[in-house]
Amino acid sequence: VKPRRFFDLTAPVYRYITWQDVWRDNCAEMAGLFPELRGARVADLGIGPGVSAIGFLEARPDVRVIGVDLSLNMLREAQAMCALPLVQADATRLPFADASFDVVAGHSFLYLVPDRRGVLAEARRILRPSGRLVLLEPRADGPWHRGALMSGPLRFRFSMVAWRMASARYGRFAEAELRDSLLRAGFARAEVMPTLGRMAWFATATP
Ligand SMILES: C[S@@+](CC[C@H](N)C(=O)[O-])C[C@H]1O[C@@H](n2cnc3c(N)ncnc32)[C@H](O)[C@@H]1O
Repeated sequence: VKPRRFFDLTAPVYRYITWQDVWRDNCAEMAGLFPELRGARVADLGIGPGVSAIGFLEARPDVRVIGVDLSLNMLREAQAMCALPLVQADATRLPFADASFDVVAGHSFLYLVPDRRGVLAEARRILRPSGRLVLLEPRADGPWHRGALMSGPLRFRFSMVAWRMASARYGRFAEAELRDSLLRAGFARAEVMPTLGRMAWFATATP
């Protein structure tokens, strides 16, 4: 199945499993990674059904989010959940001008894209010099069956099992690997820190 078709088919299920407090709170926490960028223009790459953007806006009502996704069905789900500008595009070929965003965000997104270098190059191109890339990605050495995975509300546990299965198929990041891919993409500084019960990384990078 082609990636776009796969995401089209899974959009309603994905909305169901991610519409829960732990995931949304983690998206809100991610918005804390660019505290000084008041009123930032944010591109949410792989917005999916919109939970990431809704989480950002809960924490940071001052920012302006534009959602981007390859899948029309994901964008339809997002449209039903939030009134935001949405753009159907492949993140390796973004229809935005150079230096036109303060923040490029990808919550649970980069690991799904085969051409990660292409995405990072585009993220860097559309970021202003003062801007920031913020990512949440699955962690290679994260706990599998204990801790966060088996605690918390049922829907969260279900979503984490699905996430671990998806990331086993598409790939997870070791800490150094994630940092190095950001630096190799030309970002000047990159930082990686644990989140989501040590199952994931937050990464930030500046052009
Ligand atoms: C796991 S979902 C994440 C959704 C949302 N950010 C969240 O945290 O719930 C990943 C999304 O990335 C989208 N996607 C995958 N490859 C893409 C690409 N090359 N360009 C744009 N979006 C893509 C998928 O359609 C899907 O909606």
